[in-house]
Amino acid sequence: MTELELLIDFYKETERQGPGSSNETLKALSFINIDKKQKLKIADIGCGSGSSAIILAENLDGQITAVDLFPEFLDKLNLKSKELGLHEKIKTIEKSMEDLPFKNEELDIIWAEGAIYNMGFENGIKKWRKYLKTGGYLAVSEITWITNTRPKELEEFWNNEYPEIDTASNKIKILEQNGYSPVRYFILAQNSWIENYYKPIEKLFSAFLKKHKNSEMAKNIIEAQKEEIKYYQKDKNYYSYGFYVAKKIK
Ligand SMILES: C[S@@+](CC[C@H](N)C(=O)[O-])C[C@H]1O[C@@H](n2cnc3c(N)ncnc32)[C@H](O)[C@@H]1O
Repeated sequence: MTELELLIDFYKETERQGPGSSNETLKALSFINIDKKQKLKIADIGCGSGSSAIILAENLDGQITAVDLFPEFLDKLNLKSKELGLHEKIKTIEKSMEDLPFKNEELDIIWAEGAIYNMGFENGIKKWRKYLKTGGYLAVSEITWITNTRPKELEEFWNNEYPEIDTASNKIKILEQNGYSPVRYFILAQNSWIENYYKPIEKLFSAFLKKHKNSEMAKNIIEAQKEEIKYYQKDKNYYSYGFYVAKKIK
């Protein structure tokens, strides 16, 4: 197995593939000022196994297209949406976020929780803009510095993981410079990291290592997770996921 296959094998067992919560998905949705009773067209990009797509389908009329690069996650989402009777509202597409199948101005809402970093925040909001109707909304969560300064070691760690990590004021400026009007910004609660993401993944560590016979690659994956968790435990007052809701302007 390659490292990527191992990562997919690990994350397909988790309820969420990143920090977040149903309440925060709903909170972001509450800032979207569109008539939610009309048949909306929504894309959930980098949907993973669908924690946000399910909430959107439960709370909106219309069609949700959930896009992810990996079929293992989409299979899980399809199973869940069938169980919940939401399969007609959620269509899954195996595609890269850099090569989306939408027409220009087709979408009312673009949603992406903890996923836009895969193509970079600025690149993503620029390339996805054309798919949104004027007046349509973007809702993305993205790792964000929540203070102006921070320990050097932490800064180096996250810059190495994701060089576009930045403060909310800089992210909001990027939105403004690219044809969006920022509507709301809030940060995810610490429990959305700890209870909803880190604790559930920690429970999987030993079974994953056993399954992969303690291979070097499997051990490296778990060690990297542990390091990230250690930083969060120590430095959680310096960063979080920021949730950005913005409207496409002409
Ligand atoms: C951190 S997870 C977030 C998943 C989900 N939105 C959530 O909050 O639980 C990032 C997701 O992006 C997907 N992904 C990575 N690269 C991608 C790409 N180039 N195109 C589409 N999806 C991608 C991964 O498979 C994964 O499901």
